Amino acid sequence: MLSRTTELASPTDLAGFRQAARHLLAAQVPPEAVTWTLAYARDGDLFAQDITAPAQTTPCPPPQVPAFFPPLCQTAILHREPRRFALMYRLLWRLQHQPQLRHDTLDPDRSALEDLARVVRRDMHKMTAFVRFRPVADGQGPTPLHIAWFEPDHHIVEATAPFFQRRFTNMRWAILTPDRCVQWDGTRLTFQPGAHRDDAPPADAGEPLWLTYYEHIFNPARLKVKMMEREMPRRYWHNLPEAALIAPLVAAAHQRSGAMIEQGPQDMAKRLPKSLPLKVSAPGPEHHMAESRATMSLPQLRAACQHCRDCPIGEHATQAVFGEGPAHAALMVVGEQPGDQEDLRGHPFVGPAGQLFNRAVAELGWDRQQFYVTNAVKHFKYEVRGKRRMHKTASQAEADACLPWLQAEIAQVKPKAIIALGATAARQLMGRPVSVTKMHGQWLRRDEDGLPVLITLHPSALLRAQDDARAAAYKQWLADLSHATEHIPA
Ligand code: URA
Repeated sequence: MLSRTTELASPTDLAGFRQAARHLLAAQVPPEAVTWTLAYARDGDLFAQDITAPAQTTPCPPPQVPAFFPPLCQTAILHREPRRFALMYRLLWRLQHQPQLRHDTLDPDRSALEDLARVVRRDMHKMTAFVRFRPVADGQGPTPLHIAWFEPDHHIVEATAPFFQRRFTNMRWAILTPDRCVQWDGTRLTFQPGAHRDDAPPADAGEPLWLTYYEHIFNPARLKVKMMEREMPRRYWHNLPEAALIAPLVAAAHQRSGAMIEQGPQDMAKRLPKSLPLKVSAPGPEHHMAESRATMSLPQLRAACQHCRDCPIGEHATQAVFGEGPAHAALMVVGEQPGDQEDLRGHPFVGPAGQLFNRAVAELGWDRQQFYVTNAVKHFKYEVRGKRRMHKTASQAEADACLPWLQAEIAQVKPKAIIALGATAARQLMGRPVSVTKMHGQWLRRDEDGLPVLITLHPSALLRAQDDARAAAYKQWLADLSHATEHIPA
């Protein structure tokens, strides 16, 4: 078998990969015959002459790929894993030779690439959360230059820069990292080679103010060191000014919470300093809400949800309808929002949609008591028509306001798999719109925790279907749901 060594210009050279892969496919070179290298890795290599770059001059037609493939490669290539190019090419090759593979969401190569992409997205998220700018008077403009030092795990600087550009458009800033630096001068992003930690400025006068704020918002009664480490991993601490306070605050927490209990409740506002530092680093109230929800048990969450007014829906509903089922059910079922009956009775899926769901559950030989049933939105949204309260779909903003409740339920129940009933559930669970008509019956994986989510129609869609189409749609729905049977305890 003819073997090829294919060289890419940089660790994130997607255009180079694309072009090389097209030529390799056209020449029928199987993945096992290709070695992928990086140009800079060859510097000084005396044996580099036998490297065969693809015939760059001959244009090659692009291969047919399913819609998921290009964005997956775009993200996965940013991972530091040296075998990522080989994995991308192997999946591309297999997609050309095994057309049915495009529907197999659990294929090992696809899953491996999705795992890389998930890690990259998490790294990008951490970068957006943990970059701390320090103002430096560089004399280049009327406002200071804000400089940050950050050490990402993967090659994410280019991909994350637009976030900072959008967020800090009116600031001049630079983010220095060991591999790549990026600067925004107010009009243009410029990328440069990596820098050294010492190139970033030391703590400045602005920092004590931020530290004071952090110290004040640090509530010892809520202290959960493990969770704090999960959200703010230790390896980021050395770049965060507030991290220097964590150890002494943790040590003092026990003593402080005792004192707080003795003191009794206080007005929260009084505990905050009057002036806050740059918004850049101040966590918003939702951060603290999310933190406290993450530490609550299911009964505490259920009780707290009754008072939720994070969006206007709760004001008009009879009550919040929280999830129900075994606290550690292997399977979770997520619907859209309670309907009229659920709102009055306080239980999920007890109205007409719930009855249809119960019928499907019985026909599949399942027992509803075995799984945890909940909704993406916890209050009933409706409009009054005559004497009836008609269901209204919650807006994206309303559903997002409710998302922390669902995420907290998932974190507590820790299901092995989730069934999404309908588009709202699918979108909230996956963090992006999902076409239920196209994807029904398929398993997708959530980015944040890798949980498999089975996409299915909402039972209300079947209730609305025309008489002649309903039986077939119901049969298809049963077939889709049946994919979850492996997660039903025997
Ligand atoms: N529809 C849903 O999505 N959830 C319910 O609980 C009831 C109807």
